[in-house]
Amino acid sequence: MSTSRRGFLKGVLGTGAAGAAATALPGCAPDINPAPVTDVTASSAGTVDLLVSRYPDLEPVGGAITVRVPGEAVPLLVVHTKSEGGRDDFSTVSSICTHVACPLGFDGKDVVCPCHLSRFSPTDGAVLQRPATVGLRSFKTDYNPGTRVVSINLRAGEDNFPAAVNGQVTLPFSQFPDLRNNGGAVTGVPTGYGLRIFIFRQDDGTLSAVDSICTHQQCEVEFRAQEKDLFCPCHASTFTLQGEVTREPATLPLKRFTVSETPDAVIVNGVQ
Ligand code: FES
Ligand code: FES
Repeated sequence: MSTSRRGFLKGVLGTGAAGAAATALPGCAPDINPAPVTDVTASSAGTVDLLVSRYPDLEPVGGAITVRVPGEAVPLLVVHTKSEGGRDDFSTVSSICTHVACPLGFDGKDVVCPCHLSRFSPTDGAVLQRPATVGLRSFKTDYNPGTRVVSINLRAGEDNFPAAVNGQVTLPFSQFPDLRNNGGAVTGVPTGYGLRIFIFRQDDGTLSAVDSICTHQQCEVEFRAQEKDLFCPCHASTFTLQGEVTREPATLPLKRFTVSETPDAVIVNGVQ
């Protein structure tokens, strides 16, 4: 199941800029290693189930594993945060540091980057210590003490945003009036997709919709209303509202969705 840590660094970092950064800074490494790697598959509903007894690195409190899931852009760091009164807690965050993409470990309290010592909350991915300034993505994680299964939901969305149904997200004008107006913008995370999407009514009245995951190192981009663009807080790439790159280091466009409209709603297609 588990691969070696050397295998992790080779497999996850590869030979790109992140790998170069990691190998260029060995003297900075604290006494913590990236969590060992396991390859798993997700269910068709986007749930990863881990039987804790099969993962000795995860079993003790303070334990952690890195989980690679086919089709997911970034591996996951699953950590065993506590055990109190017979109740165990686990949580899951993205396992790649938002600074320059080193793989992350867990010291029993915080998620830690071995490269330059950034620290993150294991429960919500918030930055606790720089140089990283952007938090990690967190994933809904449940533990069943009866079956000893940790379930990670990769497709969880926001309660107040429409779900993706057969790859379609329908945004009624009654709920999202901004989409009637030129210059209008709406964002949210559809259940069933699990990633933030943006929908825009351009100044010329046309519609566009794009995914939020930056194509450089998978940070989440932000909408800047004043600049009318999408900005990646990790390394400052920018994109048009149609997803085209306007500033590197990203070189590939954001994932785009096709958009249509009826008299009552905007419909975003291909959200899967
Ligand atoms: S890569 Fe620099 S702190 Fe993580
Ligand atoms: S992740 Fe590097 S610019 Fe977006």
